[in-house]
Amino acid sequence: MVPHPRDGRVDRIRQLSSPPEGVINRRVLELTMSIQKIAVLGAGQMGNGITQVAACAGYEVTMIDIEQDYVDNGMATIEKSLSKLVSKERLSQEDANSALSRISGSVDRNSAANVDLVVEAIPEIPELKFSTFAELDGICQPNTILASNTSSISINDIAAATNRPNKVIGMHFMNPVPIMKLVEIINGSETDTEVTAAVIEASEKMGKTALCCNDSPGFVSNRILCPMINEAILTLQDGVAEPEAIDGIMKLGMNHPIGPLALADLIGNDTVLHIMNVLHDGLGDDKYAPAPLLVQMVADGKLGRKSGQGFYSY
Ligand SMILES: NC(=O)c1ccc[n+]([C@@H]2O[C@H](COP(=O)([O-])OP(=O)(O)OC[C@H]3O[C@@H](n4cnc5c(N)ncnc54)[C@H](O)[C@@H]3O)[C@@H](O)[C@H]2O)c1
Repeated sequence: MVPHPRDGRVDRIRQLSSPPEGVINRRVLELTMSIQKIAVLGAGQMGNGITQVAACAGYEVTMIDIEQDYVDNGMATIEKSLSKLVSKERLSQEDANSALSRISGSVDRNSAANVDLVVEAIPEIPELKFSTFAELDGICQPNTILASNTSSISINDIAAATNRPNKVIGMHFMNPVPIMKLVEIINGSETDTEVTAAVIEASEKMGKTALCCNDSPGFVSNRILCPMINEAILTLQDGVAEPEAIDGIMKLGMNHPIGPLALADLIGNDTVLHIMNVLHDGLGDDKYAPAPLLVQMVADGKLGRKSGQGFYSY
């Protein structure tokens, strides 16, 4: 296999960003761009979660959406989530209050003008991401890092919409953000090493584990997860077993916390289909062809939990 030009780089960054306990690694300090202020674009499911963990980590965060109602809903979700943590004694009331005081809401994208990092969490529509990154490129300072929380859109394609492809990176948080430990960091082919180091540091400050990969269809997480889900759907389609048995076998036999069909319903069958199409088109191998049953279910509006009907009824 031809080695990727960046092989070894990721390990080096991880080494640099995680010095042995008690050791101050001067090279890290030199390499890391300082992130103090963050803007999160999108106050939806992912955006409000990212805002919450960033504010709890001590960052000043501006959460931006297109309508005040969406900003207010995002804020209400954060307040509810913090109250829950306080009631479970996992956060003090004082820390919850100070996290809230670090968050401001806005419907003006110009409020991202003076931040060090923008994390974009707007809908998964390629043209919308491209035009938004072009706009952010004009609004933000030249050194600002522009990160996308995309689950499937190429980071190189997003970076190409800007004049700063070296400062564009993927920060793929998992849902629900306050609970899930991983941030999948996706390096574009032009992403600067310093930018990767800075977002690893910021992710770790937010209490997450950051693991890096290179830009490629589905990155690591969805390239592995979605074909497994697709195979479970093919297994159901072939009449091998009922949904409960397929999910039970994977839960009990493989120690998965949730079965693949229940997970498809949680993610949304339309999203799973979209990602399978990205893998099929991007990697050009028929092993990624979406299961006909998945295509049919999406056409029938059986999208999973959000529509009330998927592989299970809700
Ligand atoms: N939901 C998940 O499980 C999940 C997991 C990982 C990654 N992602 C990715 O995160 C991103 C956001 O997903 P979500 O589930 O939070 O979506 P969502 O629909 O809950 O939220 C998107 C928000 O973006 C806002 N928005 C739209 N255009 C905007 C603009 N131009 N400027 C500012 N705000 C704008 C919308 O009003 C909405 O509030 C997508 O790229 C998705 O693929 C989602």
